Amino acid sequence: MTQKALHRPALTVLDTPEEVAETAARRILDQLRAAPRSVLGLATGRSPVAIYAHLAEAHRAGTSFAGVESFNLDEYIGLGPEDPGSFAHYMHRHVFDRLDMAPGQGHVPDGLGDPASVARAYETAIAAAGGIDLQLLGIGRNGHIGFNEPGSAFDSRTRVVTLDESTRRANAPDFAPGAEVPREALTMGIGTILEARRILLVATGAAKSAALHAALHMPPAPDCPASALQLHPRVEVLCDRAAAARLKDG
Ligand code: F6R
Repeated sequence: MTQKALHRPALTVLDTPEEVAETAARRILDQLRAAPRSVLGLATGRSPVAIYAHLAEAHRAGTSFAGVESFNLDEYIGLGPEDPGSFAHYMHRHVFDRLDMAPGQGHVPDGLGDPASVARAYETAIAAAGGIDLQLLGIGRNGHIGFNEPGSAFDSRTRVVTLDESTRRANAPDFAPGAEVPREALTMGIGTILEARRILLVATGAAKSAALHAALHMPPAPDCPASALQLHPRVEVLCDRAAAARLKDG
């Protein structure tokens, strides 16, 4: 078996979550300045909210996102854009309705379509766009990236997954009281994510410190999906002090 080369992701530890968001937004804006027609991989969740607010602010100040095409990491199966718990809804609220991206250029896997066909078409669409230039990632408390839960193969592609109970509990606050968090989702695979030309992972808060430690300091293994990032030569991790608490170099 050929041994894959391991890389050490570039780590920047900042004082506050706000500085993490500001720096991440700056990285995205730098990418767009260098290549206005970039293809971005985007994430949902709490971590990117402030990043997207900075992008919206940049847009109000004159930055155009008209050449950008984007692909989200994941979506719940059974939820469409009208559902406030869906990632499509989130993306409209935080990104698509606040920037001047061309209609149809912001892609989120269709949670209402036939999942296997949606997954196949999503891979084809990413390839047709020329691949992802910069992929933004958060990290789950269990080390997931996208919805690739522990045990996901490093060469996995966009597919249907069953969410861990811990992930459903962590995401429950995004749903109305009493509403069920879906049990299944569509997610880009780890193999899909690793094909991005550059990856930017953000992590804030003490609840992420164990996952970040496993991702950066343990040998890459499927029990921590984010540890697969050590196989990629161009990864930057931006985190705050709380998330960096267990890192040797944090
Ligand atoms: C979101 C996603 C997830 C989140 C992760 C962290 O599209 O794919 O992997 O990035 O669950 O979520 P937050 O930022 O809410 O802690």
